[in-house]
Amino acid sequence: MSVVQWSDDFKTGVCGVDCQHKALIRMLSGLYSIAEKSQDREVVSEAASLLADFVVEHFQCEEKTMRDISYPAYESHKKQHDEFAGRVANVVQRFDETGDNGTLNESIQNYMVPWLTEHFTKTDKEMAGFIACVPSGKVA
Ligand SMILES: [Fe+2]
Ligand SMILES: [Fe+2]
Repeated sequence: MSVVQWSDDFKTGVCGVDCQHKALIRMLSGLYSIAEKSQDREVVSEAASLLADFVVEHFQCEEKTMRDISYPAYESHKKQHDEFAGRVANVVQRFDETGDNGTLNESIQNYMVPWLTEHFTKTDKEMAGFIACVPSGKVA
């Protein structure tokens, strides 16, 4: 069974954001099932790095949007991003050192999934609410 699936509860209503969130969910559950099945360290490491890179890319997109619209809660939102991206990078690094699939999947299940889904439904939805009030043309 998949560790996480897309739910419409996660929807922010901002198309570009929701598309990237769906991709994050797919990559996260993909990595989890690869780590469940594969003992090939290279394959797992590659999938983990792709996820970590996409997390950073997604956060950069949101942060650019927030700067473009002078979002008042930019700093606290970015702080959350930095903390999560830092922890994901640590998890990937630890996997590269140990090759321990079980610890990797524990981090996905107990940290990454709850963190991301809560961030989508609270922090990103707040941002989306603000975006919706900005005159169109100001948001890329
Ligand atoms: Fe997001
Ligand atoms: Fe965010």
